[in-house]
Amino acid sequence: MARAADVGTTPRPVGAGGQAFVVVRLRPGGEVNAFPARCPHRLVPLAEGTVVEGRLQCPYHGWRFGSDGRCVDIPSMGAVGTPPPRADLPMPWAVEERHGWVWLAPVRTTAPCPPRPPAEPVPEAVPAPPVPDGPVFGNLDPSLEHAWHPVALSRELRSGGWLQVRLLGRNWMLRREDADVSAEPPAFGVRERFGVIWLAPAEPADVPLELPEATDRRFVTGWLPPERAPGPAGPMADNFLDVAHFPFVHAATSGAAHETEVPPYDVGYEPGGFTSVQEQWFDNPQDPEVAAGGRPLRQRRRATYVYRAPFQLRLRLDFLDTGAARTILFLLQPEDVDSTRIYTRLLLSSGPGQPLPTPATVAAEVAFEHRVLEEDRELQGVMATAGLPLDMRDELHVGSDRPGIALRRVLCEFATAGRVRSAA
Ligand code: FES
Ligand SMILES: [Fe+2]
Repeated sequence: MARAADVGTTPRPVGAGGQAFVVVRLRPGGEVNAFPARCPHRLVPLAEGTVVEGRLQCPYHGWRFGSDGRCVDIPSMGAVGTPPPRADLPMPWAVEERHGWVWLAPVRTTAPCPPRPPAEPVPEAVPAPPVPDGPVFGNLDPSLEHAWHPVALSRELRSGGWLQVRLLGRNWMLRREDADVSAEPPAFGVRERFGVIWLAPAEPADVPLELPEATDRRFVTGWLPPERAPGPAGPMADNFLDVAHFPFVHAATSGAAHETEVPPYDVGYEPGGFTSVQEQWFDNPQDPEVAAGGRPLRQRRRATYVYRAPFQLRLRLDFLDTGAARTILFLLQPEDVDSTRIYTRLLLSSGPGQPLPTPATVAAEVAFEHRVLEEDRELQGVMATAGLPLDMRDELHVGSDRPGIALRRVLCEFATAGRVRSAA
């Protein structure tokens, strides 16, 4: 599979018997271990993992696996949580180092040891990591015809101008004349909302997301430049709703001050989506009252996630000690099977009796959020997935995944309703 000398403490993807694995030494100079190619949680390739304290750690939520494949730590469950047995990795039958090479038997074999190679062995090609058994919700799902999609920022299309956009694998030409925006080929509808141009290819069935902060004079706003991510929108929406990845994916930015344990919280289903509310502890060094001794560094905040199918998301953070609030609007445009455009708008309020955030503050917050988004985009780039798995058995869900489970349920219903509509 690989030269023994080439296998160190950085996981290395390999192929054996047509299956994908990773091999790695959990200690420098230690024996070679082989693991399946994907983490059972959100199916992230374990080739992107790292070795931490003699365990293989997944990059997304920090689940750790021992040399026998046992999942020994799920950080979101806290110190007393016990990983469920299903979190253990299905391990290959044997892996051995012989004659300067690493050999792997995926399933039980009667051979007592690897053969002595007649000449220089040729390692197998590395196959792609396995795909889920059940359906996935991808960017070209037919149900997406029946929804409003963001296709551009309003300011990207000036009066009298044209703009070509990509949606659901097709090109559309937008044209602005005075207050009107139209599309070619004709769509069911084109409209503007929240500073975004939206297009519905066919009669929409989605429920629009509300953004109360947009008309609230205590808030000021800033847009991130639209970004493109190399992957489908479903896993990106899942990532936005997920708190447990902060300490791992965002260790260099927003995750540094975040607890790894995710306390239980509820999800309330609503027409077209859901709302999830949770309260979190966090460090607030930016609060001037902390330095002045008026408030503790460790503070409380309430996070309210609102989701509307297919890809409209809003997170409002209420800082309960200072009264400040911060909302992130996150909209996804499914351009192609492997391309999604991301629109992110920040809305900031300093709290009662405080002056509005200054343009410099907004610019700094936008720049910070941009760095956070870059970290998420990097993760999406390595996920190698065609969409969000809709069959609950294809992934392993734990307590912190409630919004993610709700997302899968709502998208599953959305896809089913879309199929019925298309057939009618
Ligand atoms: S820990 Fe591996 S995907 Fe969550
Ligand atoms: Fe993130």
